[in-house]
Amino acid sequence: MKTTVIAVDGFASTGKSTLSKRLAKALDFTYIDTGYMYRAVSYFALTTHLIQDNIIQEEALEAALSETSFSWSTASGSKQMLFNGKAYGDELRTLEVSSWVSRIAQLGFVREHLVEQQRLLSQLGSVVMDGRDIGTVVFTNADYKFFLIADPKVRAQRRLDELQAKGEEVLFEEILKNVVDRDHQDSTRTISPLRRAKDAIEIDTTSFSVDEVFEQMMSVVKA
Ligand code: CDP
Repeated sequence: MKTTVIAVDGFASTGKSTLSKRLAKALDFTYIDTGYMYRAVSYFALTTHLIQDNIIQEEALEAALSETSFSWSTASGSKQMLFNGKAYGDELRTLEVSSWVSRIAQLGFVREHLVEQQRLLSQLGSVVMDGRDIGTVVFTNADYKFFLIADPKVRAQRRLDELQAKGEEVLFEEILKNVVDRDHQDSTRTISPLRRAKDAIEIDTTSFSVDEVFEQMMSVVKA
């Protein structure tokens, strides 16, 4: 059976996960949020004291990671990704996790482990996968590739709204700094830096609604 891969890459808070989720639902594909995977590993490192005095204990993290895995659960009626058998939610999207995730994501052994898991998780059928290196590394032969960009201030405002709706007390300036810092770290790292694949369609989401961008993406896929 021919399966389809849609790769959605781009900068922080450009709407990748919202749009990828919607595409997956509309097309009846599996949605794979690779940011969730990097965030889960960061949360794991923070909560198991593998980050101490502001330093990542790389050797211990590498050993611990080899014992971990991602899997699918359908217990809630829809497919949910589990890390070590547990589903995670808002705890992965706090500013604390966001402030560590790009440092964790530049470690070669973390990327190797997660890319392997991403390919395994995609084996069951067609997928929409979002992240930073999907079209350039994970699935270079993806059937469709999108690259989302947007003005940093608009992105920070979107993230602020999301966190405030969940009751987190954060300042616009803190979020903007995190978004800009992550973009910089993600784009300048040595391994699998964030960049647009040559064959990816770039969409600037700054002044479009989610519905409008969704329609643009769907028209590409349907064509
Ligand atoms: O939702 P948002 O755009 O803020 O970020 P995310 O998709 O949850 O990803 C969080 C972080 O994980 C990114 O800033 C990257 O450092 C890292 N990441 C990565 O390096 N490669 C991926 N394929 C996905 C995420």
